[in-house]
Amino acid sequence: MKDAAPQTIYLSDYTPFGYRVEDVHLTFRLAPEATRVVSKIRFSPNPEATERRFFLHGEDLKLIGAKIDGAPITPRLVEGGLEADVPDAPFLWEAEVEIAPAKNTALEGLYMSGGMYCTQCEAEGFRKITFYPDRPDVMATFTVRIEGEMPVLLSNGNPLGAGEGWAEWHDPWPKPAYLFALVAGELVNHPDRFTTMEGRDVELNIWVRPGDEDKCAFGMDALKRSMRWDEQVYGRAYDLDIFNIVAVDDFNMGAMENKGLNIFNSSCVLASPETSTDANFERIEAIIAHEYFHNWTGNRITCRDWFQLCLKEGLTVFRDQQFTGDERSHAVARIDNVLALRGRQFREDNGPLAHPVRPESFVEINNFYTATVYEKGAEIIGMLKTLVGDEAYRKALDLYFERHDGDAATIEDWLKVFEDVTGRDLAQFKRWYSQAGTPRLKVEEAYEAGTYTLTFTQETPPTPGQPEKDARVIPILAGLLNDNGDEIVPTRLLEMTDTTQSFTFEGLSGKPVPSLLRNFSAPVILQRDSTNAERAFLLAHDTDPFNKWEAGRALAKDVLVRMITEDAPADPAYLDALQAVARDDSLDPAFRALALRQPGEEDLAQTLYDAGRTPDPARIHEAAETLAQARAEALQDLLPRLYAELHVPGPFSPDAEAAGKRALQNTVLGLLSRLDSGAAARKQYAQADNMTMQLGALASLLTIERGKEQAAAFYAQWKEDRLVVDKWFGLQVACAAPQAAAETAQSLTEHPDFTWRNPNRFRAVFGSLAANPAGFHHASGAGYALLADWLIRLDPVNPQTTARMCSAFETWKRYDADRQGLIETQLARILATQGLSRDTTEMVTRIKGD
Ligand code: TRP
Ligand code: ZN
Repeated sequence: MKDAAPQTIYLSDYTPFGYRVEDVHLTFRLAPEATRVVSKIRFSPNPEATERRFFLHGEDLKLIGAKIDGAPITPRLVEGGLEADVPDAPFLWEAEVEIAPAKNTALEGLYMSGGMYCTQCEAEGFRKITFYPDRPDVMATFTVRIEGEMPVLLSNGNPLGAGEGWAEWHDPWPKPAYLFALVAGELVNHPDRFTTMEGRDVELNIWVRPGDEDKCAFGMDALKRSMRWDEQVYGRAYDLDIFNIVAVDDFNMGAMENKGLNIFNSSCVLASPETSTDANFERIEAIIAHEYFHNWTGNRITCRDWFQLCLKEGLTVFRDQQFTGDERSHAVARIDNVLALRGRQFREDNGPLAHPVRPESFVEINNFYTATVYEKGAEIIGMLKTLVGDEAYRKALDLYFERHDGDAATIEDWLKVFEDVTGRDLAQFKRWYSQAGTPRLKVEEAYEAGTYTLTFTQETPPTPGQPEKDARVIPILAGLLNDNGDEIVPTRLLEMTDTTQSFTFEGLSGKPVPSLLRNFSAPVILQRDSTNAERAFLLAHDTDPFNKWEAGRALAKDVLVRMITEDAPADPAYLDALQAVARDDSLDPAFRALALRQPGEEDLAQTLYDAGRTPDPARIHEAAETLAQARAEALQDLLPRLYAELHVPGPFSPDAEAAGKRALQNTVLGLLSRLDSGAAARKQYAQADNMTMQLGALASLLTIERGKEQAAAFYAQWKEDRLVVDKWFGLQVACAAPQAAAETAQSLTEHPDFTWRNPNRFRAVFGSLAANPAGFHHASGAGYALLADWLIRLDPVNPQTTARMCSAFETWKRYDADRQGLIETQLARILATQGLSRDTTEMVTRIKGD
């Protein structure tokens, strides 16, 4: 029943399904090796469809029997499902199938994790549970009966009833099958309640395995804050009597927004001060918000087909980013988001995997849950909001919810509400959805007699399948400063629509210093000839916090690039500017931590490649180390004092302010360790009473290759806590010196706790290896070979996670011929593997290119 030859699916081929589903009744008789699923589905001909082929998806299902209107039939089993002859009128479909959740290691469909049953149906996993039109435009109400020995039996919607060994659930909101969920296990709950603005009293639960009860409080608080925020900012209230979250250890991604029953990777919901870092707390808060926000943007309004994935994901990421900004700091959140965007999405957009935010074809949809769809998708929403203004944005969203509630919608529907509210034509703006690649934005400036002219030119390099690009609408937020550092023209929107376009500012008394692309108002690469003096000036004076940080970043990158390419020494002007930021108590510590953080080696490789050079990871690493040492020495007098001042007394709180201080303190510790051989870090490690400080100290020590003893102690202390053990695996690889990285990863794979079928554990080792550029790209090629070995091993067990991890190789064309050759050998070896999954085949084929 599985696809023989992988097929390409095209957006242009969309047609509606020939039948509607009125409602679905499912009965599950749970057993690890042989679960029975009985379905009763009422179909009727779809008047909007032209084609009437009755095809139901189904994969890895054993069909026990099928009936139409009570009469047994024998359906035709075909590739990917079945076909049957059905009446040209409403009818009842009944089927019974058998599945084996205990054997399901792919973690898609119904599977088992740590003794519990759970499901993951997005994107196309429901077809592994029963025969069904498994496509998002087929929506139905579901009633579910679960029979099993487990004490906790959960599904979507509201509870209908329960007794010894059974429970029934009814979800009144029509939904596509990808939002179906079922959980059964020996679970304990962390309960709470929430009253919506509409007066609905909602029962809230976070369900976990016994032993994890003390790690739920923060997630619950984040959930309640998310619910209130969506009411206040978007006017959206929750719509069921119960909302359940379940933590699962074996999970391919972060979390899933199943209606009323969100399922989370346990790493994305469980939190305690002793075991979670501040970064973990922040991420958990954002993911809880993200999944909750999907209830409106994704569930109440879903996607017509999977090409429209960004309709729900881009918008929901945008909403969770807004939430994080409101809850914490807008400046810090924006910088964090841009760092992630550049690190993952720009990397994707400028390599062989580049694809439009709304792709036009795919082989395996799971391969398109990408940084481009999610993060660039969110940037598009942000640009739209900048262009139309806050008020029109809110009106457009209100109209979107009003017009499309209950629909499976498209990007066209989404843009139309903005057109209707504002009267704008968004045809050109729509290119952001259809054209891949990151635009380069060149700037030239002229000043004459009080008139200042900025001339921008946009150009997007070719991407796979898209040699030519048309000009896009680019919102450029800009402000002007004078020589004293005063803002003489506050932020203004320059709306660029042509390939080359000029904007003038009149009545100035002298040549200004421009602050361009404030708040990173468009996902482009700004190319402007600037001096380090000017960058230092903006770092000191810009009123836009993003651009203030960006100026410091550009300065640091310029210094590093010249160290790498010209063997230049660390520029003293940069070190002075750094001093000033470090000392400036008026700045938020979280912001200072970001400003003091050195640009990463991957970022530098990307920058060098973009400037037409071949990056050498070893050379980049060496320069980064030299600069880090120079920075430590330049700040020598300041560091111990700053470190002491930042101490947060009292019991741990994960709030943004305290977290910011700890972030800066750990940044300072990293520098200090280069001067005191790790003395301060050893002390911090010994005294730490929370994971942020403990792990920060361990990272500092491992980076200077003096952390062996602490790493051993860390394992001994935490070996029973799987989420902390993941950190232990990951940090050793991430901090390993270039020549030791592959070997460290290799020896960790021999550790008894390397339970490699668990995606979190696999990613802890190999995600960290890929994130250590000098280690992964070590000239020996050992990193490449090791990763390929393990991808080949994981593929038959879990194709989804294997395929995602292949992106470690996506930058291969940046590097020298030797490295390219080594990588190509590994890619070829993976592709030659017998029975390689469709997922991994598609990824490696695209990465290899023609
Ligand atoms: N829709 C989920 C989200 O954005 C992510 C998701 C898609 C997912 N496919 C998945 C999660 C498979 C786990 C497994 O929140
Ligand atoms: Zn999502």
